Amino acid sequence: MPVHITSNIPTYPIVDLDAQHYIVNSGLQLDLAGEILAGIDFPQDAKVLDVGCGDGRITSEIAKRVPYGQVTGLDASTSMVGLARETYLEASSSNLAFLQSTAEDFSIEGELDFATSFSAFHWFRGAKGVLKSLCEALKPNGELIILTYPAESIYYEFMQEALNERFKEFAPLSAYNTMLSIDEYKSTILDAKMDLTEFTRKDLFTSSQTFQEVKEFIRGWLTSFVPLPEHLHDEFLDLVIEKCKPYVQYGRDHSINLPYTELIIKASRLS
Ligand SMILES: C[S@@+](CC[C@H](N)C(=O)[O-])C[C@H]1O[C@@H](n2cnc3c(N)ncnc32)[C@H](O)[C@@H]1O
Repeated sequence: MPVHITSNIPTYPIVDLDAQHYIVNSGLQLDLAGEILAGIDFPQDAKVLDVGCGDGRITSEIAKRVPYGQVTGLDASTSMVGLARETYLEASSSNLAFLQSTAEDFSIEGELDFATSFSAFHWFRGAKGVLKSLCEALKPNGELIILTYPAESIYYEFMQEALNERFKEFAPLSAYNTMLSIDEYKSTILDAKMDLTEFTRKDLFTSSQTFQEVKEFIRGWLTSFVPLPEHLHDEFLDLVIEKCKPYVQYGRDHSINLPYTELIIKASRLS
């Protein structure tokens, strides 16, 4: 499945992620995607594009389910794509490829059976355009499967509060400004002539044992949220921890539970 990068210059500022840090702190994302994938019936020869594939673990799981198909994982981060290639590309996995590009800057030749994206869409600065082009890249009856966190998620509100308070010049650069709301996801998909088969909002809590753990979890995706220089990370994260405290619900075991909103979308292209 040829996937073309349409521009050598990313349309949006992308700060590379630390792939090793991500792996250690990405258990939540993996569990969520695993649950969704378990319910999908992939034909063995399906063509799949996984956008924002990260370290490639989920993409490689999909590839195992389509031995005669073609699965492409696409991600903006060189470190993530490097790790995905190192870990999952073996001689035996000729049905799997990883491509480094921003989601906003590629086009697909031919048609997809599935377009998937797990825990990544909220970072796409041109999310509406990406959503539209994925819908258009699907075959009739092809399926779109997205797990994302809409603008309504309180997590991003307190992070933006921290930027507004002490890192003002970075506030306009954050993903909070470009995240789609629940309604925007819905209307963009319906406008692209898709049949919405599932559209589920879940209000959930992340659970940590210590604030240090919360800090490390956020550090894993901090630069996707805002391109803050590394020497400011700790100061910003400490302020985020202060800002999140009014929203914490403490468990009986003293666990620290923070609310977030998840959106699961399944839609198929009308024939
Ligand atoms: C939270 S990770 C999710 C990775 C994987 N899908 C998972 O569920 O474990 C989000 C990924 O989106 C990627 N990303 C962020 N902005 C992007 C963009 N504009 N285009 C492509 N990938 C992007 C990041 O590099 C990161 O690897």
